[in-house]
Amino acid sequence: MSAKTFKYVSYNWDEAKAAELAGDEVGLLVYRSNLLGADLRLTNYGGGNTSCKAPANDPLTGQTVEVMWVKGSGGDLGTMQRNGLAALYVERLHNLRNVYRGLEHEDEMVELFNHCIYDLASKAPSIDTPLHGFLPFRHIDHLHPDAAIAIAAAKDGERITRELFGGAVGWVGWQRPGFDLGLQMLECLEENARKGIILRGIMLGSHGLFSWGDTAYESYVNTLEIIETCAEYLAENEGKSRPVFGGAKTPELSAQERHGKAAALAPVLRGLCSSRQKMIGHFSDDERVLQFINSNDLDKLAPLGTSCPDHFLRTKIAPLVLDPAKTENRDYLETAFSAYRTGYQEYYESCRRPNSPAMRDPNPVVILVPGVGMFTFAKDKTTARLAAEYYANAINVMRGAEAVSEYTALPRQEAFDIEYWLLEEAKLQRMPKPKALNGRVALVTGSAGGIGKAIARKFAEEGACVVLNDLNAERLEEAKTEFLKAFGKDAVATTLLNVTDAASIDVAMQATVLAFGGVDIVVNNAGISISQPLAEHTEENWDKLYDILVKGQFLVSQAGVKVMRKQGFGGDIVNIVSKNAVVAGPNNAGYGSAKAAQAHLTRLLAAELGPDLIRVNTVNPDAVIAGSNIWSGGWAEGRAKAYGITVEELPAYYAKRTLLNEIILPEDIANACFAFVGGLLNKSTGNALNVDGGVAMGFYR
Ligand SMILES: NC(=O)c1ccc[n+]([C@@H]2O[C@H](COP(=O)([O-])OP(=O)(O)OC[C@H]3O[C@@H](n4cnc5c(N)ncnc54)[C@H](O)[C@@H]3O)[C@@H](O)[C@H]2O)c1
Ligand SMILES: [Zn+2]
Repeated sequence: MSAKTFKYVSYNWDEAKAAELAGDEVGLLVYRSNLLGADLRLTNYGGGNTSCKAPANDPLTGQTVEVMWVKGSGGDLGTMQRNGLAALYVERLHNLRNVYRGLEHEDEMVELFNHCIYDLASKAPSIDTPLHGFLPFRHIDHLHPDAAIAIAAAKDGERITRELFGGAVGWVGWQRPGFDLGLQMLECLEENARKGIILRGIMLGSHGLFSWGDTAYESYVNTLEIIETCAEYLAENEGKSRPVFGGAKTPELSAQERHGKAAALAPVLRGLCSSRQKMIGHFSDDERVLQFINSNDLDKLAPLGTSCPDHFLRTKIAPLVLDPAKTENRDYLETAFSAYRTGYQEYYESCRRPNSPAMRDPNPVVILVPGVGMFTFAKDKTTARLAAEYYANAINVMRGAEAVSEYTALPRQEAFDIEYWLLEEAKLQRMPKPKALNGRVALVTGSAGGIGKAIARKFAEEGACVVLNDLNAERLEEAKTEFLKAFGKDAVATTLLNVTDAASIDVAMQATVLAFGGVDIVVNNAGISISQPLAEHTEENWDKLYDILVKGQFLVSQAGVKVMRKQGFGGDIVNIVSKNAVVAGPNNAGYGSAKAAQAHLTRLLAAELGPDLIRVNTVNPDAVIAGSNIWSGGWAEGRAKAYGITVEELPAYYAKRTLLNEIILPEDIANACFAFVGGLLNKSTGNALNVDGGVAMGFYR
């Protein structure tokens, strides 16, 4: 079979690469897994697992035994390496059947898998281990392809599967993964064999697909063929008897209109979603999402909830659908959220078991606004983005199932048992402790510059999502590359920004709220410096200084406060002012007085924004030379000349003038900003913190 024969999945097997791995079954397993995981049509992120069984030397006896290598708990097939696998003695795994006490005691088996481990460097075996272990095939793929789940979640899924594959793909109805499901799959295989039918795969109701082969390659091609057949069948039937999702109900808006509405709404939704814990948002409005949320069937399908366990673990049982005509009405939104939370509580109460973990955050994860798009909220950006991806998978599943039959969701109790599975809870408990700024969004103006970039870096290191911005596009691009490398795409957004221009600020704020749902920390840092004697100070320079430093701080704060008020849970504004705001020196009328205005603006806004729980504070740097454009623009040379030293000697020269004899670095300013926003100074507003190595003339009194 060649690449050309596949239309709905990608065939990427490279003979040459595979030949290099010949004889290395585990290497081939990793290779195949990476190919499968790279195509999201084959499996969702983190979903599915693969295995191989091969002979290996048993270090305990020196004899050859059969070992199974299977993807361990967690991780993603697309990037999995050998260390992502668990290796287990197949015989020991089989012997566990002798001690299995039945469905009620499923969870105790997971502990026992650890006793079957062959390779001590193994990753923890996942709950899918017995699903692979009992099937007698050398290479096995278990994937969650939307096209297969669509059939697995269709009312007539079993019949469709039988007809589509002439009986060669078996069917096992919904059962949550574990020992019992493994036994049921084996029984399915044997029952078919008794009838003389040799299976090439098994469809798991409401869940996904198992397929296999004698070699890595055979398994790969068999898997691709089965998924291709499913996808082809769905495509042939789509829109045949009725339009997709019953046709459009809500008219399409232009992208610009959608984004405008989404940006206005996102901070309000973020505030409501964060009633328990601060959430980060993600917005998506791609074609697939719009087709679903604008459709006639939305009202029927959305409340049914998602089907595949992966989907609802990430998206909660069902989304919150809002009436687009009422999203500007705060009372309406509050009522809608409160109804969702009550519904979630009822679901919890009615399904809980005596030993269920406590109820988790009852707020929605997925919020659908017809005409506008899909919002997802989670404790960090990656989780929010993945929730959106999983809901898009769920949309594909509903779309396919409805094209060929009728979509069915999992029964509530089954969904609950998965969501509140003690093993899932244990996973959550193992999560690392959150960092100080997790769940927070920070916009630092002029963050392509020396001090601004250091502040943004510190915030990102402490777990915040940061919005890099600057007037200088070239410097911004450099900063972006640097941050993407250090923190990854989910932690960083970039936007051009001119702080003197309200329209540009609007665009940047829109980019911020569309990227992360809102904003928590605004640092007014953008600036320039011009030093001139009074007689020579031009009016133009005066205006420039006041525009960027004072008006800029005013406008950006105003825009930030607008978003913070919509969220309704407070926030932080930190203004990077200067020692020059406190200490008067010659040749500094414009810059120094503008800095003093910035300092007083801190106090004025602190006085006004207290009731909103928005803190406003000042950090006063002095003589931060490293990385600063302000200093490189001829100013340093001028200063050095005036003191009769070289530019290189300047930092030490300035340090000597301080009480602590310290050189001030951009990181020192960043630490001061973090001190204000990191949680320990939550009861401080209208304050100023000097970071200047100690300059007695700058003491506050
Ligand atoms: N470096 C120091 O010694 C020192 C001392 C006291 C105060 N400060 C203050 O610290 C802040 C940062 O200074 P730095 O030393 O990092 O300088 P910098 O020049 O390296 O960074 C400032 C950044 O602001 C950007 N910017 C300028 N005008 C802008 C505008 N209209 N809109 C958006 N961005 C704009 C610049 O492109 C630059 O990237 C400034 O407010 C400065 O006054 C610096
Ligand atoms: Zn699965």
